[in-house]
Amino acid sequence: MSGLLAGRSALVTGGGSGIGRATCLAMAREGARVTVSDLPGAGAEETVALVRAAGGEAHAVHADVTQPDQVAAMVQAALAAYGPLHCAFNNAGIAAMHVGAGGQRMGDISLQSWERMLAVNLTGVFLCMAQEIAAMERSGGGAIVNIASVAGLVGLPGSNAYVVAKHGVVGLTRAAAIDHAAAGIRVNAVCPGYIDTPMITEAMARRGEQILGTVPLRRLGQAEEIAQAVVFLCSDRAAFMTGAAMPVDGGYTTV
Ligand SMILES: NC(=O)c1ccc[n+]([C@@H]2O[C@H](COP(=O)([O-])OP(=O)(O)OC[C@H]3O[C@@H](n4cnc5c(N)ncnc54)[C@H](O)[C@@H]3O)[C@@H](O)[C@H]2O)c1
Repeated sequence: MSGLLAGRSALVTGGGSGIGRATCLAMAREGARVTVSDLPGAGAEETVALVRAAGGEAHAVHADVTQPDQVAAMVQAALAAYGPLHCAFNNAGIAAMHVGAGGQRMGDISLQSWERMLAVNLTGVFLCMAQEIAAMERSGGGAIVNIASVAGLVGLPGSNAYVVAKHGVVGLTRAAAIDHAAAGIRVNAVCPGYIDTPMITEAMARRGEQILGTVPLRRLGQAEEIAQAVVFLCSDRAAFMTGAAMPVDGGYTTV
């Protein structure tokens, strides 16, 4: 098979929905064999079916990225299915509303909400990276892309724990890029603006016009547009990129 990722093995967390699903499909179109990971019942099998229907190769794994043993088993499953791991997209994540903290200011957020947000959106990325790096070091290198957000580059109102977690992902990306460059492992982050996925359905219903008013291109991004950036960062076209935090945001962070 030809393509930017021909012959590569790829792992995507949160691959059952939104940006993760679009990226599994895009990676498979570019020739990668894809391990699609998500929580049980969160759509991984449906993504695999879509990849196969389009002529690609994929299999499903269930893992909660906050659980070290499940993350280790997930990477082992990817290795068992497709051999050495070349690309990983650490994409699983939640929004403030998922921890009951939508719109809350720093003084109002509960410790439980704060800890859950950091556990999924920051520690989850750390746990996945640790296993992926160990596997990639054994096979001579690879490319990791972490999902951050525009909230990893600037502040957003009423999203403090989310902003902290995503800034943490950018920091983790930069630190790991330095530590593992000599092992041939590139680590980059993609920083999406507002993307049309289930994660922002509720916010768009509540204040869609206000959100679009903050985006110079005056539209939501599509999951496919993030997927293309991730494929690029995983591919040899980005061979000289590591430690980058790449905005794909319709101009949001330029204002
Ligand atoms: N949609 C946006 O506007 C936007 C903007 C910037 C960044 N992001 C980030 O993109 C990523 C993907 O979000 P999306 O918009 O596709 O939303 P989504 O809700 O469609 O997908 C998120 C996926 O992560 C999975 N997930 C959640 N908790 C998990 C856990 N503990 N273990 C494993 N999987 C888990 C969910 O099951 C789901 O499949 C998130 O990290 C999000 O923060 C989204």
